[in-house]
Amino acid sequence: MARGVATVGAAVGASSCPARVGPGEVVGEPVVKARPVGGRYGGAVTATNFPDGFLWGTATAAHQIEGGNSNNDWWAMEHDPAALCAEVSGDACDSFHRYPEDVAMVAGLGFGSYRFSLEWSRIEPEDGEFSRSALDHYRRMIGTCLDQGIVPVVTYHHFTHPRWLAARGTWEWDEAPGRFARFCERATDHFGDLIQMACTINEPNIVATMGWELGIFPPRVSDVSRRDVVNAALISAHHKASEAIKGSKGEFPVGLTLSMADFQAEPGAEEALEAIRRPAEDVFLEAVGGDDFFGVQTYTRMRVGPKGYLRSEPGVPLTQMGYEVWPEALEGTIRRAWEKTGGIPLYVTENGIGTSDDAQRIDYITRALGGVQACLEDGIDVRGYFAWSLMDNFEWVLGYGPTFGMVAVDRETFERTPKPSATWLGNVARSNAL
Ligand code: NOJ
Repeated sequence: MARGVATVGAAVGASSCPARVGPGEVVGEPVVKARPVGGRYGGAVTATNFPDGFLWGTATAAHQIEGGNSNNDWWAMEHDPAALCAEVSGDACDSFHRYPEDVAMVAGLGFGSYRFSLEWSRIEPEDGEFSRSALDHYRRMIGTCLDQGIVPVVTYHHFTHPRWLAARGTWEWDEAPGRFARFCERATDHFGDLIQMACTINEPNIVATMGWELGIFPPRVSDVSRRDVVNAALISAHHKASEAIKGSKGEFPVGLTLSMADFQAEPGAEEALEAIRRPAEDVFLEAVGGDDFFGVQTYTRMRVGPKGYLRSEPGVPLTQMGYEVWPEALEGTIRRAWEKTGGIPLYVTENGIGTSDDAQRIDYITRALGGVQACLEDGIDVRGYFAWSLMDNFEWVLGYGPTFGMVAVDRETFERTPKPSATWLGNVARSNAL
């Protein structure tokens, strides 16, 4: 089966990717220092080893694990019978209280980094009203990572919005990018001295598409012209936020993350693919040129025919999410991100699979990491890999059904039980080799 990447590498001129070098050559300093291995980034990449300094982590998001985030637009939607949510987030994994245990678990398993998000609605419960206690909470959480030898990667926005912002139109309100930047500045003032790497907005393309085109996420609008307004607002918010963070105590790398699919066009479907991919990905990829890094988040491929999206291919197994088990998609999207961003340092900030079969998770991640290695061998500057997710959590409209976690969570007691994949990937991280 074609992996959809063969022509991408050939199409990229070396001049458009300044950091591109031959296999085994030094491609740059690590953006942040990883815990598991010392030395300089850029050691020879063998079939099984990753470059020295490669950052291994696992990712979560506040609303999916903290619990009790009742002041945001998601909580409101979860309780709206007209919406399509399978269940409410409720107490989630109670990580708001159990984060010390979670961070210790990340460290104990062997990972060097933990990516998690701030809940804007806790920090700024009303427009311009900041909670000292919430800011202190996240400062403690970031400090706990440092105490455990874990690189804290902080995401400032992961899908949820304070209710006061939603009441004004969320990203359709022209003041929204400025309000987001103000929140980022305030948070960075409070704990930026401890952050080591930050993502401004997680998957703005999903926020816009699911919220304003497909009508599935808040505010449940289905209107492509409004989606385009939101795309533009999110790009502006990213730029304003990066500036605000760097103008505050932000002496760490800042970037954007994007949901990327490995789009594969059937013969004659190139135009249809372009029409789909431009608003879904390219407008964002073209906006991140000056950033310190870019975060690739990939789960599957998307096949496109002349009339649009195609159904999954018969015979290809499906994940709990209903899309194809296609770990090779990661390689395709890394190559495309490298090409379209002009070669800025890349991190895989999310990759994983919703499955009840943990052996399938290990197989999926193994194959996805094979794709990362192929990219490294071609000189693409991939600096880290974050598995989604540390633990089973609230999968948005699908509730707690899909299980992406390497750690199971008892829904009554919140007890965490690592699955074999957690130990396996932790050992990969420790040894920095597959
Ligand atoms: C990407 C999103 O960032 C995350 O919130 C979600 O749970 C995973 N994809 C899995 O669907």
